[in-house]
Amino acid sequence: MRPFVHLNFAIDVATEPSAFPAGVEVSCAADWRRVHQLREDYDAIAVGARTWNLDRPRLTARPERLGREPSRQPVRVIFSGSQVCMPAQPGTPVFAVGQAALDNADTVLTAPTHGLDHPLAALAGHGIRSMLVEGGPTLLRSFLQQGLFDYLTLYIRADDACSAERAARASLSPLPAFRAVRPFGAGFLVEAGMPPGTVMQ
Ligand SMILES: NC(=O)c1ccc[n+]([C@@H]2O[C@H](COP(=O)([O-])OP(=O)(O)OC[C@H]3O[C@@H](n4cnc5c(N)ncnc54)[C@H](OP(=O)(O)O)[C@@H]3O)[C@@H](O)[C@H]2O)c1
Repeated sequence: MRPFVHLNFAIDVATEPSAFPAGVEVSCAADWRRVHQLREDYDAIAVGARTWNLDRPRLTARPERLGREPSRQPVRVIFSGSQVCMPAQPGTPVFAVGQAALDNADTVLTAPTHGLDHPLAALAGHGIRSMLVEGGPTLLRSFLQQGLFDYLTLYIRADDACSAERAARASLSPLPAFRAVRPFGAGFLVEAGMPPGTVMQ
C-alpha cells in the first residue's frame, strides 16, 4: 500500500531547461489557484531538501490564492536525503524521509537510499492516502525513474502546445506519454497518468 501520488511542476520555456532558480515564480494566477486547490485536496505535500532549504516554502493552502478560506491543510513531507534541513515553521505535522536531520520533524522515516517503496508504505501507515509532490526536479525524477506515481501535471509558460511539450521533455525525464496538453491560464497544462478519482486508493 502507498498513497496516491500526484507529481506537479511548473516550467517557463524562456528559461534554460536545466535551470530552476530559487524563488522565481513561473505559475500565473490561475495556476496558483489550481495548486492551492490541490493542496486542500491532498493529505500531504512533499518537497525535496533543496527546495525546502532554498525556498523555505510554507506548503499551505492560502486564502489569497484561493479567494476564500481553505477547507483544510495538508501535512508536510520533506525528502531530506543526505541534506541537513532547516527547521520547520509552526504548522501541520512534518515527516522527514532520508538519512539526515530535520531537527523538529514530528516523524522521521529513515531511508538509507533513494528507494521510495518503503517510505511511501510508511507514510500510508501513518494515514496519508494521497500526496502532492511539488518538486524540485531531483525529487520528481526520483519518483519518475521508480515509476511510483499515479498522475502528473506540468504547468508550462509557453506560446504554443508544441513548445510546451518540448520544454517539458527537455526539463524532466523520463516522462510518460501525455494524455492531454491544453491551454491553461497564461500557458499550457500537460497531464499524464490517471487523475485522482480514477485510481484513488
Ligand atoms: N518550478 C517548479 O515547479 C519548482 C518546484 C519546486 C522547486 N523548484 C526549484 O527547484 C530547485 C531545487 O531542486 P533540486 O532538484 O535542486 O532539489 P530538490 O529536488 O528540491 O531536493 C533534492 C534533495 O532531495 C533528496 N531526495 C531526492 N530524491 C529522494 C528520495 N527518493 N528519497 C529521499 N531523498 C531524496 C536529495 O537527497 P540527496 O542529498 O541524498 O541527494 C536531495 O537532498 C530550487 O531552485 C527550487 O526553487 C521549482
